[in-house]
Amino acid sequence: MILNSRPPASAAADALQFNDKTTDPIRHVYVHIPFCARICPYCAFYKDLLDRSQTERFCKAILREIEQHVLKLDIAPRTIFFGGGTPTALTTAQLQFLLDGFHQRLDLSALSEWTIEANPGSVSARKATLLRNLGVNRISLGVQSWNDDLLKILGREHDANQAEKSFQVLRHAGFANINVDLMFGLPTQTAVQWKATLEKTIALMPEHVSAYCLTYEEDTEFFLRHARGELRSNADTEAELFEMTMSILEEAGYQQYEISNYARPGFSSAHNRAYWAGEDYLGIGPSAFSTVGMRRWQNVPDYRAYAGRVLSGQSPISGTEELTARMKDTEKISLSLRTREGISVESLASSSDQTLEFIALGLLQQSNGNFMLTRAGKLLADSVAEALL
Ligand SMILES: C[S@@+](CC[C@H](N)C(=O)[O-])C[C@H]1O[C@@H](n2cnc3c(N)ncnc32)[C@H](O)[C@@H]1O
Ligand code: SF4
Repeated sequence: MILNSRPPASAAADALQFNDKTTDPIRHVYVHIPFCARICPYCAFYKDLLDRSQTERFCKAILREIEQHVLKLDIAPRTIFFGGGTPTALTTAQLQFLLDGFHQRLDLSALSEWTIEANPGSVSARKATLLRNLGVNRISLGVQSWNDDLLKILGREHDANQAEKSFQVLRHAGFANINVDLMFGLPTQTAVQWKATLEKTIALMPEHVSAYCLTYEEDTEFFLRHARGELRSNADTEAELFEMTMSILEEAGYQQYEISNYARPGFSSAHNRAYWAGEDYLGIGPSAFSTVGMRRWQNVPDYRAYAGRVLSGQSPISGTEELTARMKDTEKISLSLRTREGISVESLASSSDQTLEFIALGLLQQSNGNFMLTRAGKLLADSVAEALL
């Protein structure tokens, strides 16, 4: 998502003036917590090294931003997602302060899914119990791999043993909906290692698995090392590991409901599905995007500047963009195409020659009035989407 204008804070505040509570309520809220105990060399999310002298002020700013929004927007979340960074890097007391603050400021009567991303290095029984008691009902645990050598290459703060203990701690605290994040296509990773990681994951019986192919993101240490030839990637190996992921997880009863996401029946993420369906969402915290109606805005991607602005009564918005119907359609097509349901035949009416060609090539199939990617098509999802748009 590209924001091309960066108005000053006072002008940016206007971005919030459009909704005078006359439109549908906002049903999905994302909260960005940027702190991490250690910075992973492959990660391009907005994050910063955990500084305990800053976190309390930051939590106050998050609640203040919500107060700014409830004055102007009708917010009745069905889903809330605390992502990062690492939300569990906050202390138990700070998480309690934040979650209590959400209960006090928002109408949570329609809330059905409240997810928090957790790093195995910062999960404790006390923290897990508090989160569960305050209404969080889904955890997304960043395991990445069950292989200690690969975890070292990834610069993770935990080993496999600690990740397994954290998973069990979360289960014992009463979480009945746990996602495990995994990554494949890692430097030196073999098919045997990836198979072992998938099998270990299945043995733990999480309700949901996200399996991402490692991307060498610009502005990361991995990107530089890849460019220098120190780290190697191989498209054939990545395709092989992706095929393996689909086969092994589907065999184990997980449905691939999006290219990187697999769930037991009834456990797909409602929050992510809302994004992919193009629903409105409100993003709170530094760097967070919001999309409401035809307007998209982003908060300043710097947590100190963010807190400074919010706590002095200013808007944290650093850029806004007016979306056109064409832009929304394009986004919807590329996101929906990655999902199991696919995209309606009418939405692709203008690219019918191309769709016929992809069907002939075995990359697309048609069912129940929708086009969806075949297994072969999923390996080329980005190129297929690009050609259709
Ligand atoms: C914000 S992080 C998850 C929470 C926590 N910070 C952690 O790392 O455990 C979201 C997930 O994105 C995935 N991810 C991050 N950087 C990636 C990259 N460069 N390529 C592919 N997946 C990546 C990882 O699986 C990670 O768990
Ligand atoms: S992968 Fe997770 S823990 Fe690592 S730097 Fe990124 S957000 Fe932080």
